[in-house]
Amino acid sequence: MAEKILVTSALPYANGPIHLGHLAGAYLPADIFSRYHRLKGSDIIYICGSDEHGVPIMLRARKEHISPQVIVDRYHELNKKSFAGFGMSFDYYGRTSSPVHHQTSRDFFRTLARKKVFVLKKEKQLFDPEANIFLADRFVRGTCPVCGYEEAYGDQCEKCGSSLSPSELINPRSAITDAVPVLKETTHWYLPLAEFQKELEEWIGTHPEWKSNVLGQIKSWFNTGLTDRAVTRDLPWGVTVPEDVAREAGVDASGKVLYVWFDAPIGYISATKEWAEQQGNPDLWKDYWQDKKTRLIHFIGKDNIVFHCLIFPAMLMAHGDYVLPDNVPANEFLNLEGNKLSTSRNYAVWLDEYLQKFDPDALRYVLASNLPESRDTDFSWKEFQARHNNELADVLGNFINRTMTFVHKYFGGKVPEQKQLSELDSQLLTMLEQAPDKLGQLIDTFQIKAYVHELMNIARFANKYFNDKEPWITRKSDMDNCATTINLCLQTVRALSVLAEPLLPFTAQKIWQMLDMGEKHQWQEFMKSELPAGHSLQEPRILFTKIEDDAIEAEVKRLKQASPGEAKNEPELIDIETFGKIDLRVAEVLAAEPIKKSDKLLKLQIKVGTEQRQLVAGLAKHYKAGDLIGKKIIIVANLKPVKIRGQESQGMLLAASHDDRVILLTVMEDIPSGSPIR
Ligand code: 2FM
Ligand code: ZN
Repeated sequence: MAEKILVTSALPYANGPIHLGHLAGAYLPADIFSRYHRLKGSDIIYICGSDEHGVPIMLRARKEHISPQVIVDRYHELNKKSFAGFGMSFDYYGRTSSPVHHQTSRDFFRTLARKKVFVLKKEKQLFDPEANIFLADRFVRGTCPVCGYEEAYGDQCEKCGSSLSPSELINPRSAITDAVPVLKETTHWYLPLAEFQKELEEWIGTHPEWKSNVLGQIKSWFNTGLTDRAVTRDLPWGVTVPEDVAREAGVDASGKVLYVWFDAPIGYISATKEWAEQQGNPDLWKDYWQDKKTRLIHFIGKDNIVFHCLIFPAMLMAHGDYVLPDNVPANEFLNLEGNKLSTSRNYAVWLDEYLQKFDPDALRYVLASNLPESRDTDFSWKEFQARHNNELADVLGNFINRTMTFVHKYFGGKVPEQKQLSELDSQLLTMLEQAPDKLGQLIDTFQIKAYVHELMNIARFANKYFNDKEPWITRKSDMDNCATTINLCLQTVRALSVLAEPLLPFTAQKIWQMLDMGEKHQWQEFMKSELPAGHSLQEPRILFTKIEDDAIEAEVKRLKQASPGEAKNEPELIDIETFGKIDLRVAEVLAAEPIKKSDKLLKLQIKVGTEQRQLVAGLAKHYKAGDLIGKKIIIVANLKPVKIRGQESQGMLLAASHDDRVILLTVMEDIPSGSPIR
C-alpha cells in the first residue's frame, strides 16, 4: 500500500522576500523529498503558506504607514510567485490571515482551554501610555546592557547578539512613540511546558533516527528544563483570543491575540483543510492529520527546532486529535560569501531577483550540493558559477547533448537496437538498475547532498562510458557495438531524466520532451521498460548555457555594497587581538609566470625569510610577470592554502585597488624578506 506522507515547510513570514538561506533550510530539501515520493507513487501532500502574524510585520507596517494586511498581501503574492518560479511543488500554499486559519486556531485554543491545559498568569508588562498599547518585546528599544548599543530590541541586541528581556534594557523606550514605557498589569494564557516534559522525552526517545543536530538541541532544552510559555499577547494584529474562553476565565479579551508561534504551526492544519476543500472533499484533511499511519514531516531551519519538536508537539498531545511529527529534519544555516545573511541589511540573494537573471535549476543544483545538513555551509557566487559550468553543463548537459546529437547525426534520430553486451555495457546497466533504490533511500533518509552526489556520479560514469566506447570509431568499424553504445546511452538519458526530476524538475521536463515519451515519469518502473528500438526522438536542445564571469562579478559587487559591516554606514570594528591574528610579512618575488588558460592569474614564487612559497594572484591584467621579479611585496602569511586553477596558493598578497586599477603594495626602503609588518 502506498505510504501516506504529509510534508510541511516552515511557513515563511510575509514581511519580506524569500532568500537563499530560506531555500537551503526548509524548502528545497522538502521539495526534493516530495517530488521523489510522488514519482514513487506515495500518497503524499506537501503543504506550506505565509505566516502573516507577529510583531516584525506590525513594525514594518508602521514604518511604511500602511496596515499589516497590505504588507502581508504584498509578500504573500511575491513569495508564492517566486516559489513557483523556483519549482516548489506545494499542493497548497495557504496563509494565516485566512478565515479558515483564524477559525481553526481559535478552536484549537478553545479545546486546550476547555481541557484546562493552560495556566492563567497576571503580570506587569511594559505599556506605552501614548499609543495606549502593551509593548511586545520587539516594540521596546533601549541600550544593550552587554555592549552598550543604543538601539537594542527588548528581546535581542542585534549588535552583539545577546538575548535580552525588555526589563534588562537601559533607558527603555517605546519603538512606536518613543515614550518611556510604564509597567501595567495584564493577564495571559500560558502553556505549562514543564508538565509535558516527561511525555515529550518519552516520545522523542522513540525517534533515535532523527538527525543528530536536532536531537542535540532537544536534549539541551530537556537538560535546562522546559518552562511555561505565554501563548497570548496584547497586540492589535493576530488571531483574537476566543471571547467565550476569556469570559469563562473572567478575563477581558479585548486587544488580546494568540502568540504567533501558537497559531503559525496550526497553519499547517488549516492549509490542509483548505486544500481538502479545493479537492472537493472537505474531510480529506483528516486522512492525513488524524490517521496514525501518516508520516508527518516538518522541514525547517535550526532556529525553529524548539517550536516543531517540543512546543507544537506538546500542543498536539494536549489536543489529542492529531498525529505527531514522524521526523523534523532541520537544517543548519547557509551563509553568503562568508557572512551571515541579513534581511534588514539587504545582505542576501533574493529569490525573486535571482529568477530574473538565472535559471531555477542552476540554483536548485548548487544549493542542494551544498546543503547545511549537519553544519553551516557557505554559498559563494564563484562556486555557483563553477558548479553550474563544470558539473551541470560539462558533465550532465554534455553527456545528454553528445548522445542526442550522435543519434540524430548517425541513426536518423531513432533509438538504435541493443545488440550483444560487453562487460562495460553490463556495468552501466547494473548501475542504472541499482540507482532507483540507492538514490531513493538517500532522499528518504534526508541525505539530499549524498543523493545529488550519486546522481552526478551516474552522469560522470556515463560520460566516461561514452568516451571509452568511442562510438565515433565503432560507427565505422563495428556498427553493432556502436548501436548498443548509443542505445545504452539513451537508456541512461532516460534514467537520468527520472532520477534528476526531484532535483532539476525543469531540466527533467526538457529531457523527457526530447525523448518524446508520452508516459508519466515513475521512479521504480522506468527501469522495467526501456526506450524501444526504433522510437523517434526530438531534436536535441541545449540544457545549460555557461554562466559568464561578468554575470557573477555583478552579483559579487552588489553584495559587497550591501556587506554586513557597511550596511549602516558604520564600519564593523575589530579589536587589536583580532588584527593580531593576521600575520603580515614582507616577501620577495623570485619568479613569476602567467597561468595557462587564464588571462587574470599569475603564479609567483616568493621568498619569505628562509622559506620559499608559491602564490597565485589576479595580477596578469595589471603587471607583466617579468616586472615583478625582485620586488618586495606584502603578504598575508598565515592564510589557509587554497588551490586556484589547480595551483596551490600559500598566502595572499596585498594590493590597492581603484576602479579597474590594481597597484601592488611594497615597502619604501629595502628590508629583508620575512620581516613582520606591525
Ligand atoms: O521562522 C519563521 O520564519 C516562522 N515564520 C516559521 C513558522 S513555521 C510554522 F510554525 F508555521
Ligand atoms: Zn549588545
